Amino acid sequence: MHVHRFERLWLVGALTLIVLFIGTVTYGAVGAGYGMVDDTGGEVDPTNTTESENFRSPGVYNGSESDHYDVYIEAKQFLFVPGTSDPVRVPANSTVTFHVTSTDVMHGFEVVGTNINTMAVPGQVATVTVEFDEPDEYGLVCNEYCGNGHHDMEGSLEVVPPAQFNESGVN
Ligand code: CUA
Repeated sequence: MHVHRFERLWLVGALTLIVLFIGTVTYGAVGAGYGMVDDTGGEVDPTNTTESENFRSPGVYNGSESDHYDVYIEAKQFLFVPGTSDPVRVPANSTVTFHVTSTDVMHGFEVVGTNINTMAVPGQVATVTVEFDEPDEYGLVCNEYCGNGHHDMEGSLEVVPPAQFNESGVN
């Protein structure tokens, strides 16, 4: 069967595009470090009162290693605790695991300008681990519609020089 030269060109072009599209979708799902909330994120057990085994009081905690911190954040209509009235403060050159849950409806937790972006689901804990190399300031926004104050639901994250962080201590 004879296939015209231009027809062959279009066929090859179209197949190449399909392969590229599948490649970008696969990269986005697997390679870029995005994750979905699932069972491994854990659920909040309201009957469990030992904080180390469950969702701790919101705040910043020392993690398993010296340069690792755990940040527990509650999202609620229409605040992040901590984050909205007090900024979340973590030191630079550290690894930070965010544990995010909601106490009422579905919220979003996005650190603007980074790829930290998760849903905050009532009764579930979403965990995201990131490294902060440089001191910087980031905004926190809710990106799931959660009610009439949704557009005002925001906060801030301060990545401060380690010396400055040690002065204030872990709260
Ligand atoms: Cu919380 Cu939108």
